[in-house]
Amino acid sequence: MTQETQLIITYPGGSYPVVVGHYVLGRLRNLLNLSGPVVVVTDSQVGPLYGSYLTNVSMITIPTGEQYKTLETIQTIYNGLLATGLDRGGTVVALGGGVVGDMAGFAAATYMRGVNFVQCPTTLLAMVDASIGGKTGVDLPQGKNLVGAFKQPTAVLADLSTLQTLPPAEFAAGMAEVVKHGLIAGGELWQKLTEQTGQFTPQSPMADLHSLVVQAIEVKRNIVQADPFEQGQRAWLNLGHTFAHAIEQVSEYVVRHGEAVAMGLVAAAHLSAYLEECSPALQTQIETILTRFHLPIRIPANLPTQDLLTAMRYDKKKAAGQLRFVLLREAGEVFVTSEVPETAVLQTLTHLIS
Ligand SMILES: NC(=O)c1ccc[n+]([C@@H]2O[C@H](COP(=O)([O-])OP(=O)(O)OC[C@H]3O[C@@H](n4cnc5c(N)ncnc54)[C@H](O)[C@@H]3O)[C@@H](O)[C@H]2O)c1
Ligand SMILES: [Zn+2]
Repeated sequence: MTQETQLIITYPGGSYPVVVGHYVLGRLRNLLNLSGPVVVVTDSQVGPLYGSYLTNVSMITIPTGEQYKTLETIQTIYNGLLATGLDRGGTVVALGGGVVGDMAGFAAATYMRGVNFVQCPTTLLAMVDASIGGKTGVDLPQGKNLVGAFKQPTAVLADLSTLQTLPPAEFAAGMAEVVKHGLIAGGELWQKLTEQTGQFTPQSPMADLHSLVVQAIEVKRNIVQADPFEQGQRAWLNLGHTFAHAIEQVSEYVVRHGEAVAMGLVAAAHLSAYLEECSPALQTQIETILTRFHLPIRIPANLPTQDLLTAMRYDKKKAAGQLRFVLLREAGEVFVTSEVPETAVLQTLTHLIS
């Protein structure tokens, strides 16, 4: 019998199950005891692959890609929901990666002032990160995720069998967030990632993928449960992300989020070692792991240092005037600080641009 795990995530006012297993999509209605109408929001790549696993539902298909994570696409989702006649007794199901999850969730939070919402993540990144914690939203021309809402799902179904069709670069992007979770939490997950035998791919033995995904979700669960509205330790999840956001933006999103996170994790370790918070050996260890997962560890030379610094200062404006970094003392011990001199940031960028 294949393994199935159910984790419960609590938030102020409720809780929801996260089911991780193989071929769980086909049991959506039974597993969740859904009785009313169900509308599935998916993208043009995932719909043809997995849409038929969900029976007795209506389907709204949006184009694939971050460039469509816009208010215009939200409008087309509203149109689709109205066309199916969905009312407040119905459920919106997101079937896809983080882009679909963020948009279907935002539509579910706002359509008729909120309807039931279920996440069925089909990328590694969405399983371990985007589908957990209740953040939803869209991008504006001025920047990523500038409009959004907290919308807790009624359930998350992570069907590991869908990972088999995930392009290798997308799987690697998800591994960057898994490594981030390992660094934040330390312990068993970090040990697993540091072992030479830890060689994860979409075709890895099911049991290995299963325990990896469950452990990575547990890290995010523990953090969002402790800090549901991002007032404290949820900021730890931004490890590597001050650098990553700048890299993504300056590359005009040619560098994928997960790839930028990989570079950002190396940068966070370098900066931490430069400030004598951690040993330089930690940076080397992180680089070895990321390389094993086919992730980049240097910032492309065509991204000008000054532009990266400017982009980070813009991030600073968003955080009430403080350029905040999540730094490392060791795997399992991270902290947030706004006391990093710009010369140290510059030194790290100069060191990592190749
Ligand atoms: N809400 C949050 O807390 C949170 C956290 C992290 C990231 N995000 C958001 O998530 C988004 C990134 O998510 P992503 O990395 O999943 O990207 P994505 O949704 O763009 O998916 C990546 C690509 O893989 C395809 N795909 C998805 N599942 C597949 C499968 N099983 N087989 C074959 N192809 C498949 C998609 O069609 C897409 O082309 C970003 O917009 C980011 O802002 C949100
Ligand atoms: Zn991220």
